[in-house]
Amino acid sequence: MTASLTVLGIETSCDETAAAVVRLHDGARVEVLSSVIASQIAEHAPYGGVVPEIAARAHVEIIDTIIARAMSEAGLGYEGLDGVAATAGPGLVGGVMVGLSAGKAIALARGLPLMAVNHLEGHALSVRLSELAPYPFLLLLVSGGHCQLLSVEGVGQYQRLGATIDDAAGEAFDKIASTLGLPYPGGPGLEKLAVGGDPARYVLPRALLGREGCDFSFSGLKTAAARIAATLSTDEERRDLAAAVQGAIARQLVERTQKAMALHLAAYGGQGRLLVAAGGVAANQIVRERLRAAAEAHGFGFAAPPLRYCTDNAAMIALAGAERLAAGLIDDIDVAARPRWPLDEASARDRPIHALSRKGAKA
Ligand code: KG4
Ligand code: ZN
Repeated sequence: MTASLTVLGIETSCDETAAAVVRLHDGARVEVLSSVIASQIAEHAPYGGVVPEIAARAHVEIIDTIIARAMSEAGLGYEGLDGVAATAGPGLVGGVMVGLSAGKAIALARGLPLMAVNHLEGHALSVRLSELAPYPFLLLLVSGGHCQLLSVEGVGQYQRLGATIDDAAGEAFDKIASTLGLPYPGGPGLEKLAVGGDPARYVLPRALLGREGCDFSFSGLKTAAARIAATLSTDEERRDLAAAVQGAIARQLVERTQKAMALHLAAYGGQGRLLVAAGGVAANQIVRERLRAAAEAHGFGFAAPPLRYCTDNAAMIALAGAERLAAGLIDDIDVAARPRWPLDEASARDRPIHALSRKGAKA
């Protein structure tokens, strides 16, 4: 294996335009040479969510600038790269195509290998940007679009243990935050509002309690919280509801993760005793602390990327690309963007959580 691999990563699957350069030494130690992120939050805020057409146009307008900045902050010319990685899905396909096309153009012009990266694989490996998390590990991936538990055996090798049957945890945070009058994306605002609140003041439903397995459901919680939110009049009540919601989401994440730790241990034994949390919701301090405590109680270590690598970024895409390159997993230049792309394709096909739609299994 080459002693070090330097890869440019590009991320445009949602409302962040991002580019980064990462260097992987001996397949393990990681150096982030640059990580540039341009957020479109302000452009979508008036609509209370991400508008696909606005996102795609905003990516087109800024992608070249962001890539140029990532290269210059890394202090490199294109001849200093060993490969180019771009998110190829899942996500808003108009945006994905912008970043993937930019990656293809650079790969073609410079004769570099192209790695088409699954955005979820980026989140799955993101912890390795900041620490040496050995495979296999148990992953709780909690973002705005996804909520799942996976055993990560290595790059490209995932076993799904559970996933949400309706909303993602971040989506629940965002929707409930909006009923509390907080701007999009509501997760960080709800966390701030909840500080000092009394989580016991409002009782919220616990979903799928008796059900086998590690699946999640947040729609009942969302409806119950919205009903309560409509009756509130004081700031103190809003603060207490925010605390109750945050506590209820954290509790469900912890309960399912506890079940998953048992399944993961049964499959991998002592060598897999590490719980990793990744994705935007892993930025939440209460969620992090409760997961850490649950991991310790089960004899697991706990790791989560620093906040800047929890939410969407391109360093995680560059790292996934570098690990793919090291493993010889290179894609054709005509690889297509995929709006849906489950990480564990076998489980998604054989044990679909959602009925298979025309477009294939959801992520
Ligand atoms: O990973 P991410 O940046 O994008 C997706 O791939 O979805 O995650 C964004 C999600 C949003 O739903 C946002 O509200 C949530 O992560 N989030 C948080 C916090 N920071 C971001 N949720 C709860 N507490 C936070 N501190
Ligand atoms: Zn994401």
